[in-house]
Amino acid sequence: MEMVGEARLEASRQLVWDALNDPQVLQASIPGCETLERTAENEFTATVVSKVGPIKARFAGKVSLSNISPPKSYTLTGEGSGGAAGFAKADIEVSLDALEPTVTLLRYGVKANVGGKLAQLGSRMIDAAARKSADDFFELFGQQVNERAKSASTATNGVTFDIRALAGNVPEEAVVAPTEVAGRQTTTHATFVEPVEQGQTARTDKAAAKSQTESTAPTPGIATQAEVMDVLISEMVKVWISDQIAVVTLNRRKSRNAMTYAMWLAIPAIMSALDRNPDVRAVLLTGAEQDFCAGADIPEFEKVRADIAQATAYEVAVDACCDAIAKLSKPTIAVLRGYCLGGGAHLAMSCDFRFAAADAMFGIPAARLSIIYGVRGTRKLLSLVGLSEAKRILFGAQRFDAETAHRIGFVDQVAGMKAENPSLSIWERLLGAKARQAPGDPMAEARAFATSLAGNAPLSIAGAKYLLNGMAMGTGSLDLARAEALIAAAAGSDDYREGREAFAVRREPKFQGR
Ligand code: COA
Repeated sequence: MEMVGEARLEASRQLVWDALNDPQVLQASIPGCETLERTAENEFTATVVSKVGPIKARFAGKVSLSNISPPKSYTLTGEGSGGAAGFAKADIEVSLDALEPTVTLLRYGVKANVGGKLAQLGSRMIDAAARKSADDFFELFGQQVNERAKSASTATNGVTFDIRALAGNVPEEAVVAPTEVAGRQTTTHATFVEPVEQGQTARTDKAAAKSQTESTAPTPGIATQAEVMDVLISEMVKVWISDQIAVVTLNRRKSRNAMTYAMWLAIPAIMSALDRNPDVRAVLLTGAEQDFCAGADIPEFEKVRADIAQATAYEVAVDACCDAIAKLSKPTIAVLRGYCLGGGAHLAMSCDFRFAAADAMFGIPAARLSIIYGVRGTRKLLSLVGLSEAKRILFGAQRFDAETAHRIGFVDQVAGMKAENPSLSIWERLLGAKARQAPGDPMAEARAFATSLAGNAPLSIAGAKYLLNGMAMGTGSLDLARAEALIAAAAGSDDYREGREAFAVRREPKFQGR
C-alpha cells in the first residue's frame, strides 16, 4: 500500500522539525499509541492499539529514524507485531518546506505492508484504515504544533534580511543624479548611502532618519533618503531567505499592500543586494496576508503625484523599481493572492513567472484614474497577453479572475489547478486524494518550482533571461555585445566543466554560479 499527502502547518520549520523528533509529541499524535520510548538516539520502542475492520490488536515493535537531514527530512520506519492479528511495517518519508517564516508545508509518502490475518482483509479496507490513521495523525500533530507555536519564540530557520547591512551596501548604480524634469530639479532615485554604525539600533536609525527629514526640508513629492530608510526599517518591504530562495514581501496590509513612492524607491537596492548574494538562487515576490498589491497608494498621489513634474518623476521611480526586478539575474516568481491591481500588476509582470491563488483578482484600473499605464508596463502586458486582451484590460479597466488570467497568459499557474499527482493510485484518487492535499497554495507551488530552478546553472539562467527579456522588450533593449559576453563567460566557467563532469559520471551537478 502506498499513499502520499501534505499538511500545511502554521509554525516555523524548525518548530515542526523539533516536534517530529519529540517522542512526547509523536506519542500524542499517533492514534492509539500507548507508549513510545527512546532506546537509542534515533530509535524508539512503541505499543499501538489499532483497529482495522473487525480486527483489533495491540502492536508492539520499534520505530527508527533514518536519512535524517535536519531540519528538512527524514524517513520514519515503524514495524510491529500484533500477535495473532499479524504484523505491519511502514516506511514514511517526511519532508518539510518552509513556505514562510511561520508556515511549513509537511509532505509525506507512506509505503506499508501487512501480513497474517490483517492481509486477508483486502486492500480496500487496509487502505481506508491507513488513510484514516494518517489523517488522524496529522490532525493531532497539527494541534500539538499549534500549541507549541503559540508559546514558542520565532525561530524561523531562515535568515531575515539585514536591512541595515543593505543600507550600508547600496551600490553606486542605485544612486542617480538629480534630473531635470519639466523645468524643475528633482531627484528620481533615493540615495541612502550612509552606512549605519554597528550597534546602532533600528529605533535610533528611525529617529535619525526623522530628524534628517525635518532638517533638510525635502522638495514636496520627493521621497528622501530618510523616507526610504523608513520603508526598510519599518518593514514595509520584508525579505526572508531560506533554502537559497529569497521571499520579498510587500507589507502594508491595512492598505492591501499598496505601494508608496518610498517603497518604489526602496526596492531596487533590495533587488541589487539579492542579485549579489551568492546564497540566493531565486526570488519570490509576494504580499503580506490576503493580497498581493492593490497598486500605487492612491491617497498619497495628492502629495507625490500632484502635477505633471511629480507624475513624471513618479513614473521614473516605478519603472526603475520594475526594471530592477526584471533585470535580476536570478529567476523571479510573483506569488499572487487576493488583489493584484495597477502598479501591483506591473510588479507581477516584472517577474519571470506569476503563480496565483484560485481566488486572486487582477486588473489595471488606469482608465478609472485618467492615468496612462507606462511604456514598460504596457509592453510587458502586450508580450504576455497579446494586443486584443491588452486593449480589453486597459480600455475596460475591469477586474478579471485567476482562471481568466491563466487563459489569457497573464499568469503561468493557478494553485490547485495543476495535473493530478501521477504517483497516486486510481483508488487513492477516487477516495479523495484532493482532500489530502493542502488547499491550493501558490507559495507552495512557487517554492517547489523555484527549488527546481535553483539546482540549475545560474549563469545559464541569467544569460537566457537577459536574451529573452531583451527580445521581449524590443530589439533596442538587447545589447548584443553584452549577450555575447554572457555566452562567452558561461563557456569559460567552472560550472560548464562541472556540468560536463557530472554528465560523464551520471551524477547531479553542483553549480556555483561562476
Ligand atoms: N491605495 C491606498 N490604499 C488602498 C488602495 C490603494 N491603491 N487600495 C486599497 N486601499 C485601502 C483602502 O483605502 C482601505 O483602507 P481603509 O480601511 O483605511 O479605508 C483598505 O485598503 C481596504 O480597502 P477597501 O476599499 O475598503 O476594500 P474593498 O474590498 O472594498 O476593495 C479594492 C478592495 C482593492 C478593490 C479597492 O480598495 C480598490 O479598488 N482599490 C484601488 C485599486 C486601484 O485602483 N489600484 C490602482 C492604483 S494605480
